[in-house]
Amino acid sequence: MTHAIQFATPGGPEVLEWVEVKLPDPAPGQARVAHSAIGLNFIDTYYRSGVYPLKLPSGLGSEAAGVVTAVGDDVTHLAVGDRVAYANPPPIQAYSEECVMDARWLVKLPDEIDDETAAAMMLKGWTVWYLFRRTYAVKPDDTILLYAAAGGVGLIACQWAKRIGARVIGVVGTDAKRQLALAYGCDAVVLADDDVVGAVKDLTDGAGVPVVYDSVGRDTLEQSLDCLRPRGLLVSFGSSSGTVDALALNELAKRGSLYVTRPTLWSYVTNRDEVEAASGELFELVRSGDIHIEIGQRFALQDAADAQRALEGRRTTGSTVLIP
Ligand SMILES: NC(=O)c1ccc[n+]([C@@H]2O[C@H](COP(=O)([O-])OP(=O)(O)OC[C@H]3O[C@@H](n4cnc5c(N)ncnc54)[C@H](OP(=O)(O)O)[C@@H]3O)[C@@H](O)[C@H]2O)c1
Repeated sequence: MTHAIQFATPGGPEVLEWVEVKLPDPAPGQARVAHSAIGLNFIDTYYRSGVYPLKLPSGLGSEAAGVVTAVGDDVTHLAVGDRVAYANPPPIQAYSEECVMDARWLVKLPDEIDDETAAAMMLKGWTVWYLFRRTYAVKPDDTILLYAAAGGVGLIACQWAKRIGARVIGVVGTDAKRQLALAYGCDAVVLADDDVVGAVKDLTDGAGVPVVYDSVGRDTLEQSLDCLRPRGLLVSFGSSSGTVDALALNELAKRGSLYVTRPTLWSYVTNRDEVEAASGELFELVRSGDIHIEIGQRFALQDAADAQRALEGRRTTGSTVLIP
């Protein structure tokens, strides 16, 4: 028997339950992983609340690190005893002591990357990889606008953009987060309650930016469009303030033929080649020291509900890990 966080009805953090689970042996294509650290992600709250519906009852959590304890018959890239980390789409169950999962998402960890660091960076790092390498290829002379710059995805993105050579304008909720985002590579940071459009225009000589990475969603849609230069791209990749349910296409026309996309990780990392491409680049940047994974908070796995309350309450910085 092992233990996991599960939930049977969508709702607030209080729906999360600590339950006993009996794991099956891994089927062909699967592996069993004993977790040492689990990553907390904002997407966990969308699954829990029903914004992204899951078949219930369900586990929760899409990112973790640990050790392989069994492999299915045809799994050739892993062996029992390997240190591994992963991010994965549903069915999800990373909030657990041990799980049996599709082995295609598992990546062996290099010795230099410890388990907590790995658990804190896989889903977030793959996200930054596809946002900067695939959705819009960030270039050294670009100025980009990035929301939640002091968050889990945010601090990785600040450093990755710096490595590319781009200029980063961050948006954050508090002055303490502003200091953190600056320390991690932002060139300028605007407080979310200030005049973001005015600040971006001032910082770009009135031109606006070619790309906005907006993870806040409903509350910031209009100002994000106003920050773009003509033919710029809004990458609306999250909904921490609520989902964007409608956008009149004329809003794009009147600001100068803008583009908009609402991307998700699981349409960019779909197969083994993409898992290896995203992980390879991420591991290299972490190994070289270009990206430091900031773990701002640690919670016991059983206290996952408290961790989610802190995340939704904007009280976390960097990544958060849950320890079984
Ligand atoms: N589409 C994808 O493929 C994909 C993949 C991964 C993550 N994401 C998205 O990326 C974003 C960041 O994820 P994360 O896990 O790294 O979380 P995070 O950035 O560590 O935490 C969320 C942050 O969002 C900001 N925020 C702004 N308005 C908010 C509101 N009304 N409620 C709560 N937070 C608000 C807060 O920062 P401030 O206080 O500084 O504003 C908060 O700390 C999330 O929106 C997530 O859904 C998308």
